[in-house]
This record gives sequence, C-alpha cells and structure tokens, in this order.
Amino acid sequence: MNIRHDDWPVSFMKILLAYYSRTGFTRKVMEDIQSNLERRGHTTAVEALQVVRETSCVGEIWKDLHHYPLIFLSSFKASWREKYLAGYAQIEEDISPLRYPDVSAFDRICIGSPKWAQISYPVARYLRTVRGLAGKKIGSVATFGGPPLPVFELAMIEKAMTRMVSEQGASIIAHLGLSSAYHELGVMPLFRCVSRIVLHKPIEFFMIGSEYANHLTRQFCDRIAEE
Ligand SMILES: Cc1cc2nc3c(=O)[nH]c(=O)nc-3n(C[C@H](O)[C@H](O)[C@H](O)COP(=O)(O)O)c2cc1C
Repeated sequence: MNIRHDDWPVSFMKILLAYYSRTGFTRKVMEDIQSNLERRGHTTAVEALQVVRETSCVGEIWKDLHHYPLIFLSSFKASWREKYLAGYAQIEEDISPLRYPDVSAFDRICIGSPKWAQISYPVARYLRTVRGLAGKKIGSVATFGGPPLPVFELAMIEKAMTRMVSEQGASIIAHLGLSSAYHELGVMPLFRCVSRIVLHKPIEFFMIGSEYANHLTRQFCDRIAEE
C-alpha cells in the first residue's frame, strides 16, 4: 500500500502486457500503455509472443479464408453476427514457450493482438495455453489496418476476445482498438476511401499516435488502473 500526496490510499498493481505483433504496430501501442501505467506507479512485465514458424500474410489469410464470406454477410445483420461469432472455430498457431506460463501472480493482464479477421492466431493459442487466467480482469488491445468501423473492425475482434477470455473464466474490463493504417496486402487505398465515406474523416485522424488514439489509450489505462 502506498500513500498519494492527498493522503488517499492507492495500491499499485503488477500488470502483465502480453501481445503478438507481426509488423510492430501492436507492440508500439503496448509500449505506450506500459509507459502510461508505469508513470502511474504500477509495475509491468512483458510477454512478447513469438511464432514457431513465420508464414506469409497470404498464407495466414488462406488458413481462415473459409470464414471470409460469413464475415462479410455478418456485417449486415447483428443477429447473424452474434450467431457467427458465437460458433466460429478460431484458428490458432504454434507459439514459442512462454516467459510467464502462469499469470496468477498478476493483478491485471493486458492482451494485445493485431486483427486477423478476428483474433490473431498466436494470441488465440496464447489464450488457450496460459494458466491462471480464471478470475482475472483483462484489458483487450487490438490494432487493424482499416479505420475503426464499429462492426467490421471493432466488434469482430472485441466480441471474439470477449468470448475466448470468458471461456478461460476471466473478464474484459476495457477494450482499445486502434488503426495502424497499414495492411501487408496493400489494401490501404480501399480502407482510406472507406474511412472518408463511412466515418467522414481521413484515416490519419484515427491512427496510432494521433490525438484520438492517445485519448483512447489514456482512457484504457484509467480503466486498467481502477481498483
Ligand atoms: C493475416 C492477416 C489478416 C488481417 N486481417 C485484417 C482485418 O481483418 N482487418 C484489418 O483492418 N486489418 C487486417 N490485417 C492488418 C493488421 O491487422 C494490421 O496491419 C495490424 O495493425 C498489424 O499489427 P502488427 O504490426 O502488430 O502485426 C490483417 C493482417 C494479417 C497479416
């Protein structure tokens, strides 16, 4: 227990930041979260997931291609989406041995994943492998190439994360979803148009490092640091 200047008791937490990042954007967001939480006095530890075999972007998408028509259709109707997200089989991928295979000693766990249609396959494997998640309060972090479309980007990964995390007996207390404005497949011209047409703003407005992104990151850290 530590005492703040105003004599209001505040306890500092031990927080694990576990993430996978293939091209560095999710890592950058997790580093921002780490500095923010450390500035508040919390202790952090990092689990940077590594895949056993690197696969090309097309190779990764190929593994999940059969889901794409359903993802497209489920964008149109909430009941189809709920049904799809409740029942789809999440793809997983082998990861190297964990630095923290048991997370029971941590007060909070922030889990970061790039959006790969839903949860990236290494993070999905992590959620099924790591021990000690039951009862934990989790912060879920996602980055994606497109603008923060409420359904296609945010709901598709946030609901999938909520499902997987609750299967492990844990609960999500905060979500953060930010655009990297980067996609290895070179589809950014399409996402840029979608951003202007649907959200009436250039994608730069929402990008990691923007005022918008920094504001949401601070809000996320507020929720994580709450008692
Ligand atoms: C296999 C794969 C699937 C992807 N699927 C999506 C997607 O559904 N929507 C999207 O906006 N971006 C998608 N992306 C782009 C990444 O989510 C985006 O570039 C992310 O910020 C990368 O994070 P990282 O640098 O931490 O790996 C995909 C990328 C890969 C490699």
